[in-house]
Amino acid sequence: MAEAPPSNEVVIRTENLSKTYRNGAEQLLRMPGVTALSNLNMEVHRGEVFALIGPNGSGKTTTLKLLMGLIFPTSGEVEVFGSDPRTSVDVKRRIGFMPDGPYFYGHLNGYELLEFYANLLGMDRAATKQRVMELLEKLEMTTRAKQRVRTYSKGMLQRIGLAHALLQNPEIIFMDEPTSGLDPVGTADMHQMVRQMKSEGKTVFLCSHFLTEIEDLCDRVILLDRGRTLQYGDLNSLLAEPGKMRVRLSAVSAAARARLLPMGRPLAEDQAQGNLELVVADGTDTHNTISTANELGAHLDLVAPMRRTLEEVFMESIARQQADAPWQDGDRGLAHLVEREEG
Ligand SMILES: Nc1ncnc2c1ncn2[C@@H]1O[C@H](COP(=O)(O)OP(=O)(O)OP(=O)(O)O)[C@@H](O)[C@H]1O
Ligand SMILES: [Mg+2]
Repeated sequence: MAEAPPSNEVVIRTENLSKTYRNGAEQLLRMPGVTALSNLNMEVHRGEVFALIGPNGSGKTTTLKLLMGLIFPTSGEVEVFGSDPRTSVDVKRRIGFMPDGPYFYGHLNGYELLEFYANLLGMDRAATKQRVMELLEKLEMTTRAKQRVRTYSKGMLQRIGLAHALLQNPEIIFMDEPTSGLDPVGTADMHQMVRQMKSEGKTVFLCSHFLTEIEDLCDRVILLDRGRTLQYGDLNSLLAEPGKMRVRLSAVSAAARARLLPMGRPLAEDQAQGNLELVVADGTDTHNTISTANELGAHLDLVAPMRRTLEEVFMESIARQQADAPWQDGDRGLAHLVEREEG
């Protein structure tokens, strides 16, 4: 399937978007509360898959809720299709939301559930029937349509959750941890659905802490830690390690290994099999490594620009941030235990 390329049209924009949760006493006593998001500045383009990543409690769900106008920012601005998502009915009609672990009325079957939500959205009978059937088919849930939702597996619930989010054929779909709790097959299916939505020109905004899925699916990312932006940008540039090449060799003899090892940083090695992978500076160093390998009878299997994994970038950024501003007692974890109101 040909993918529609992302455009430069900005569909979501935030400026210094911040959110602090304070309970009643904290508001009264002007105490600091919990700052879930600090000064988020980002733009999301039409047709891209954009991911918000970060450890537990880093502010991902808070950001989603702010973007959808479900909660109020403490300061800063958010615009979706150029309007304020809290007040614009037009925005609400053009977005869909698949929450993390949605609650559904378990006594309804899949068809009835979607019909119920379609009615709430004011869709007429004929349109409802057509749309619900279409979505059940698209999400391969037709055979489960008459089964009560409370008997659904996690994967089926996720599919029905996505069908619900897609009822109004939204232009932007927000997904909070779309693959949490899914088995590898369910996960692959969900990824396929994200790709399909992208190929239809939809914008997908998702949060996740599964980094390999982000690497496979996303065009651009934001990495959050304790509400602060550690990284923001194009995934490929984020992962690139400029000026470095990866050289993969096989049939490397012991003598060849002794000569090659000092020429770069070993990335992977299997001495018994005679495999060796090195990271070397591009240009002369790469040429020298290749000609030395050739001279000593090793086979050249791959030469490619070096790319880090998202996990490496993630761990590195978090470690750097931790060194600059260490966790305080109760900064993480304990804050989750306190129920706070909006404010
Ligand atoms: N209603 C609330 N009242 C008080 N604090 C809250 C509330 N909602 C979130 N928080 C706090 O805000 C911070 C960010 O929470 P958020 O749910 O946005 O994180 P997250 O990145 O989605 O985490 P996870 O990966 O666990 O889903 C946390 O410290 C959390 O305890
Ligand atoms: Mg969350």
